[in-house]
Amino acid sequence: MPFTANRAFRESPRMLSTAEGMYYKNVDGHKILDGCSGLWCVNAGHGNAKITEAIKKQLDQLSYAPAFQIGYGIAFDFADRLAELFPGDLNHVFFTNSGSESVDTALKIARAYHRAAGNPEKVKLIGRERAYHGVNFGGISVGGILNNRQRFGPLLPEVDHLPHTHDLNKNAFSKGQPENGAEKADRLLDLIALHGAPNIAAVIVEPMAGSTGVLIPPRGYLGRLREICSQHDILLIFDEVITAFGRLGDSCAASRFDIQPDMITTAKGLTNGAVPMGAVMISDQIHNALMTGPENMIELFHGYTYSGHPLACAAGLATLDVYAEEDLFKRAREMEPYLEQAVHGLSHHNCVIDIRNYGMVAAIELAPLAENPGVRAFSVFQKAFDAGLLVRTTGDTIALSPPLIITKQQIDFVVNTLDGILATI
Ligand SMILES: Cc1ncc(COP(=O)(O)O)c(C=O)c1O
Repeated sequence: MPFTANRAFRESPRMLSTAEGMYYKNVDGHKILDGCSGLWCVNAGHGNAKITEAIKKQLDQLSYAPAFQIGYGIAFDFADRLAELFPGDLNHVFFTNSGSESVDTALKIARAYHRAAGNPEKVKLIGRERAYHGVNFGGISVGGILNNRQRFGPLLPEVDHLPHTHDLNKNAFSKGQPENGAEKADRLLDLIALHGAPNIAAVIVEPMAGSTGVLIPPRGYLGRLREICSQHDILLIFDEVITAFGRLGDSCAASRFDIQPDMITTAKGLTNGAVPMGAVMISDQIHNALMTGPENMIELFHGYTYSGHPLACAAGLATLDVYAEEDLFKRAREMEPYLEQAVHGLSHHNCVIDIRNYGMVAAIELAPLAENPGVRAFSVFQKAFDAGLLVRTTGDTIALSPPLIITKQQIDFVVNTLDGILATI
């Protein structure tokens, strides 16, 4: 099983059977409130009838068509809708099947762009410590999680990393964006001084990092990164696999933070998790630079058998309709202060060393047990599951990212359940 303690799971499995709205049911029929949208993907809630119907209808009409040198309408319709949703000139879409594939696609496009623009030496890719960009070789190379990297090397050579922004000494218990840390973006200047801007293709960051414990960008940080990248002809890629589609109370983090990246990687909420799919949003400038050479030649030698799969496009179009009709991005923004207040109410527990929140995301960081990092939070995960609540833990951080349809009463259930468990550990 992926990212699972397989032997422990076999001993004591946690098995789900069905899901509807905010709830899973386990195999014994017990309801489990989904506090993390599956894996940050089911933003509109489970079993949405409109999305299900759209997939069924598409299945009858066209369940597969090749995407190389052949087109079908629904993929272009979906691409057009995405271009409307994402900010600025991110008007072009490359479909993938996952967040990991979106990341590797974006990194390859960054290099291909600079080559097409006459700067073939611009190849270096800058990631960040504590970043998660999926599990493919590009993603783990720019990623910054030791366990995901150390057994799989050698990784891509032309890579360096910015420092992460997490600083409990200065920012613990911040509500919303932390005040301190914008200057960490200036470390990019050090990397430019070291490698030379003419050798750097792109910087990739999660505007809000999720998988390493919800790291919210300090005020001014992302803007400063944008400024430096623009000054040095370095592309800025936002990995929005978890932050796009309402998670932060807007269509994407770029819109919420009002920063225009050159590419955005997405997946997950793109289809409400109903069919695997990813998409890379690409600027006019990058697209136009690639549309050169003889017109009968392939411009970008890249793609997947299932790029723009018809079922995924049908699910995606219906998902965008549901987001719009139920006004879920706005709903997330309106619910944000309630989640903030509720979750910060857990700060009195001795084991809690930080609480942070932004959009429909919150994190409770626990003091790690000496010599046993991660064990404390995992025990909360297990106890919460037994008490009918699914949360996600990473290291010693409990992450909450519920479907955007969550009610105030359900937020109360989440926080009260955690309150009871934190008192016991
Ligand atoms: C920021 C980010 N990038 C990439 C990925 C990888 O996505 P996938 O698991 O769909 O390959 C994730 C998954 O959580 C993610 O959070």
